[in-house]
Amino acid sequence: MEMNQDIRFARTLDASFYTDISTFEKVKESIFAKTWHWIADAQQLSLSNQVIPVQLYPGFLEEPLLVTHDNNGDLHCLSNVCTHRGNLLVKQSGVCNALVCTYHGRKFSLDGKFQFMPEFKKVENFPTQADDLKALPLMNWNNLLFTSLNPEIPFELFINEMQQRLSWLPIHKFRYEPLYSQDYLVNANWALYCDNYLEGFHIPYVHPSLNQVIDYNSYTTELFPYSTLQLGLAKNGEQTFDIPADSVDAGKKVAAYYFWIFPNMMFNFYPWGCSINIVKPIKQNLTRVSFRTYLWKPELFDSKAATMLEKVEREDENIVEQVQQGVQSRFYTSGRFSPDREQGVHHFHCLINKFLIGNLSVQ
Ligand code: FES
Ligand SMILES: [Fe+2]
Repeated sequence: MEMNQDIRFARTLDASFYTDISTFEKVKESIFAKTWHWIADAQQLSLSNQVIPVQLYPGFLEEPLLVTHDNNGDLHCLSNVCTHRGNLLVKQSGVCNALVCTYHGRKFSLDGKFQFMPEFKKVENFPTQADDLKALPLMNWNNLLFTSLNPEIPFELFINEMQQRLSWLPIHKFRYEPLYSQDYLVNANWALYCDNYLEGFHIPYVHPSLNQVIDYNSYTTELFPYSTLQLGLAKNGEQTFDIPADSVDAGKKVAAYYFWIFPNMMFNFYPWGCSINIVKPIKQNLTRVSFRTYLWKPELFDSKAATMLEKVEREDENIVEQVQQGVQSRFYTSGRFSPDREQGVHHFHCLINKFLIGNLSVQ
């Protein structure tokens, strides 16, 4: 696979990327295992000795993990697999003083250290570090917790631009609202869902009601090493952010900051709070998209905002499912990009290419 870095000459990803099972499998280790993923909210782990098991991407990565809050106040991300014979350690969220395996009683502290094992007195060279639970990196960004199975690029390089641009927003105070959060199953490849998200080009065609509140002509896309920002400016009379004077966006009527972090996380900030979308591959043509709503100013999250979110999602889902059928056609192989409107999609395809060929040192 070749990807021209100059958008004027580049072609989009080959259609087989979205349909081929072996490519889909390759994406697991080449892209998803090496990048950072939201795993839980710190607010879910506010108590000492609290533990939450998390299956990272069920049906895809299938990695059993555990997030714990030890009694020193530290949070940990651990493998949820017992180091004896591989039993799953914790099956339900709860509070406990130690992690005790239900198979033969091996015991670990909440930071993953081996503590005790029955009937092992005669075992030589035991215990060693290999008997501790595997600890993964855990990054806490404004109470959102992220981990990576096999990180090759520091978390900061993924999050820096969003952090800097929104440093004035009290994101750590936003509250998760399960009532307005839900999952959508989409009959399409995960990357088609991202492609669609990464351009505002389709707004006038696919989202007529969104087009009435967003000023399409002033819509911009900014590219960063592992993320992008699409800035949606409001038409007159619509809700906008009150942006401080020292921000680069001061004076702009910003209706939404749409941040995307490679490969599959979207952070949409609105004057009322944030909607996080996690795009979870299941099969090469099936994806689960989790919408998580976090409220900052609940009084601004009215039924109009909720209806708009749902409507836009359904419209995106329909178009992306149609495209999945299209890329399966024997007559379609790839297309070209609009240099003014599809920079985000081109950047995404360049990153996919870079990870698939395994050359992560190339910018
Ligand atoms: S598998 Fe956990 S104690 Fe044996
Ligand atoms: Fe859309």
